[in-house]
Amino acid sequence: MRTVIEPFRVKVVEPIRPTDREERRAALEGAGWNLFGLDAQDVLIDLLTDSGTGAMSSEQWAALMRGDESYAGSASFHRFESVVRDLTGFEHVIPTHQGRAAERILFGEIVRPGDVVPNNRHFDTTRANVEYQRAEARDLIPPAARELSAELPFKGDLDVDALEATIAEVGRDRIPCVTITITDNSGGGQPVSLANVRAVREVCDRHDLPLFLDAARFAENAWFITQREAGQEGREPREVARELFRLADGCWISLKKDGLANIGGVLAIDDPDLAERCRAMLILTEGFPTYGGLAGRDLEALAQGLLEVTDPAYLTYRVRTAEYLAELAWDAGIPTVRPPGGHAVYLDARGLLPHIPPHAYPAQALACELYLTGGVRGVEVGTLMFGRPQPDGPDEPATHDLVRLALPRRTYTQSHVDYVGEVLAEVAGRADELRGLRIVSQPAMLRHFTAKLEPLADRAA
Ligand code: F0G
Repeated sequence: MRTVIEPFRVKVVEPIRPTDREERRAALEGAGWNLFGLDAQDVLIDLLTDSGTGAMSSEQWAALMRGDESYAGSASFHRFESVVRDLTGFEHVIPTHQGRAAERILFGEIVRPGDVVPNNRHFDTTRANVEYQRAEARDLIPPAARELSAELPFKGDLDVDALEATIAEVGRDRIPCVTITITDNSGGGQPVSLANVRAVREVCDRHDLPLFLDAARFAENAWFITQREAGQEGREPREVARELFRLADGCWISLKKDGLANIGGVLAIDDPDLAERCRAMLILTEGFPTYGGLAGRDLEALAQGLLEVTDPAYLTYRVRTAEYLAELAWDAGIPTVRPPGGHAVYLDARGLLPHIPPHAYPAQALACELYLTGGVRGVEVGTLMFGRPQPDGPDEPATHDLVRLALPRRTYTQSHVDYVGEVLAEVAGRADELRGLRIVSQPAMLRHFTAKLEPLADRAA
């Protein structure tokens, strides 16, 4: 097969600044060994997130000029609304400034204290917004798919038996909705099959429960379906995406991902009463319903991005990039979540650094070393993020210690990815020299964003 090339050429460039190890060490020390504390200028290849960090197309930049900034009834809103309606089939299109605002508004209206919200796996903000309503966010990933290295095509599938069991256990009246995250970001960017969404729909119909999709990476999910699901080969990814949406009663989308723009979100639903209540909350906290916290030009960029994102050439390149980066990690001897996801590669730091116990944050140690060695910034998804501090003694560890290398859309070239592979190989070559860290100070909540750490003096903890 020929090389899968970037299906675009470059029109605008943004310089990135090489630094040496000394400078990076000083920057990291200044940031308290927390990569969130770095200045972006001190990062060479930034794989912290794929959220809002991609490049827009020339058509999107052109569309910005068409932005109608009218407070009410903007033409840009109508363009956005018609693209979202055509894609999702949902009647009521409610723009928000990003995904979590849509979560807050929707859950604020439908979730009550003591409720249980089933999901294949909640993303952090989704879980936090459910818990903020004093309800339980319950993940229903089948046990086999929780194995990091299990090569399953649809590791994001929701466990339908576990859903039935949950409904039997808590009763349908305490379940405001069933939700599915496509793709499963927290599980490694893993897709959900069309068959699984149909099966969940069937259960929802039987119990008269609404189904909502958290569809941040709907296009990547649709592409995986065309590549991996029996009977779906050769279908247009846009048609598959439409079918996924039409199996649900509504969705919320962080448009900073497959909206191919730098900001934006949307809540799209069929129920007119719920839509009216959500719009009232939107006015209270985001803005008038025809802009919802976005500028008219953002709505234009999003409308165009949502048309571009289901292009098979783009999706071929997109998914191949993650797979290519994963292959470089494997060549370097670094285990990863398998198969690679659509938007990111998740390195298994516990597998690479068995000498660093979870309470000494092996994934943070690996993420810091990738930065020190090559200016590459990833993010720890492990005991620093999810571990529970104990009053006297080490943290209760997270289930895994991973480093996520998320790929911004249309931003880096193959040689950038090759460079990341070289850095991975260098770091893997001296894995046994890496040391753990300890926390010097941490806030009460969401500590991974602002905690300060320092390296431990000896090799193990
Ligand atoms: N749902 C999923 C599956 C997400 O991945 C995100 C964001 C959100 C909801 C929230 O959307 O950021 O627009 O408010 N994920 C980002 C990430 C932050 O880095 O994976 P948001």
